[in-house]
Amino acid sequence: MSFQPPKGTDDIAPPQSEPWRRLLRDFDALASRYGYGLIITPVFESTDLFERGVGEDTEVVQKQMYTFTDRGGRSITLRPENTAGVMRAYLAGGGAGISKVAYSGPMFRYERPQAGRRRQFWQVGVEYLGTESPIADVETIVLARDFLGAAETPTELVLNSLGDGVCRPAYLSLLNRYLETKRGALCDDSLARLPSNPLRVLDCKVCAPLLVDAPLMADHLCAPCVQHYEAVKNALTGLGIDYRQDSRLVRGLDYYVRTAFEFVSTTLTTAQTALLGGGRYDGLAEVIGGKGAPGVGWAAGVDRILLASKMTAAPPLDAYVVVEAGRSPLDALRLAGRLRDAGLSADFEPEGRSVKSQFRSAERRGARSTVILSERGAQVRIDGDKADLAAEEVATWLSIRLQG
Ligand code: HAM
Repeated sequence: MSFQPPKGTDDIAPPQSEPWRRLLRDFDALASRYGYGLIITPVFESTDLFERGVGEDTEVVQKQMYTFTDRGGRSITLRPENTAGVMRAYLAGGGAGISKVAYSGPMFRYERPQAGRRRQFWQVGVEYLGTESPIADVETIVLARDFLGAAETPTELVLNSLGDGVCRPAYLSLLNRYLETKRGALCDDSLARLPSNPLRVLDCKVCAPLLVDAPLMADHLCAPCVQHYEAVKNALTGLGIDYRQDSRLVRGLDYYVRTAFEFVSTTLTTAQTALLGGGRYDGLAEVIGGKGAPGVGWAAGVDRILLASKMTAAPPLDAYVVVEAGRSPLDALRLAGRLRDAGLSADFEPEGRSVKSQFRSAERRGARSTVILSERGAQVRIDGDKADLAAEEVATWLSIRLQG
């Protein structure tokens, strides 16, 4: 049998997994500092949830879902995204008041795999539920900016307003009338999208030159949407956060109203450059059958971010414990335990190999120091220095030395 993972999926293993670990830790710490509690929802949900929430006419629902019938005859789908699941969970909990939640986990979309576009990919994301305040939109954007800063990757914030249930229908009829006049020249993809998802036609790179004079949502917003959009933009400007308005920014999921944004990589040369995307979804709760509840949030693709990130591989081990004659791997485990308790990273070789081979392992691991355990006690070797110590002194001595 083949040991390769299924097409479009990856094994994320050391040493490549080290930046993953750091990024997930950074996300966790940041989200917690911003007051977002952890939410864990099922990796699979009733198919219905995504058909209604994400939208039957979207590519995600039409072409990309992993859907199957379970042994109880229910139609189940591996989550292609997590906003619908989080909203479902919020409604299951009563759907009242403000809730700020953060998540991290795998999502599944049957896409044509390429760099940064996987069939199983990892998202981290936040949802700010229960408020229409534009300041909530802005707070999620500030958090996104901080998170991508921690990921050491330059991006540009692209912003748009998609209107709401009041102004968008009128705009869509205008857009449809306009697109009908271009029908003969549209590409096949756009023609297929035209009846159900005309906004996506605006997004088509092939048809873009034909559509330069298309009517844009931003010019047809109703007064409350204008007010909301202005409040978001003013707050961003006041906080010194640069953004570029793009009236053609359309997101691939149907639930968005008003604010839509993406952080796009300015360095990636692959086709997939949107590292993080999100927006407001005040109609989602009702679409999935609940009472109205507004919300705003974003999700970022960890696989994609790490393609663009300057984050380096594993930080070197603080100490590698080598045992000489008369000392056993169990002694090394004990000493490594002392170092680990002191917050240092430490490792050793468990099989009682030769001293020479243990030193080779220490070197291979790039250890910052080596601790040699013999019947006489411990000797720490670091940066060409040697210090003879009692085993119980090593952790304190090394902590001071490594921090200094
Ligand atoms: P999305 O734009 O579909 O939005 O995905 C968000 C991010 O997930 C993308 O910017 C990208 O980095 C990553 N991503 C998406 N598909 C793939 C893929 N096939 N392979 C690798 N990475 C991928 C959502 O999912 C919304 N739920 C975001 C949201 C949260 N909106 C409001 N709250």
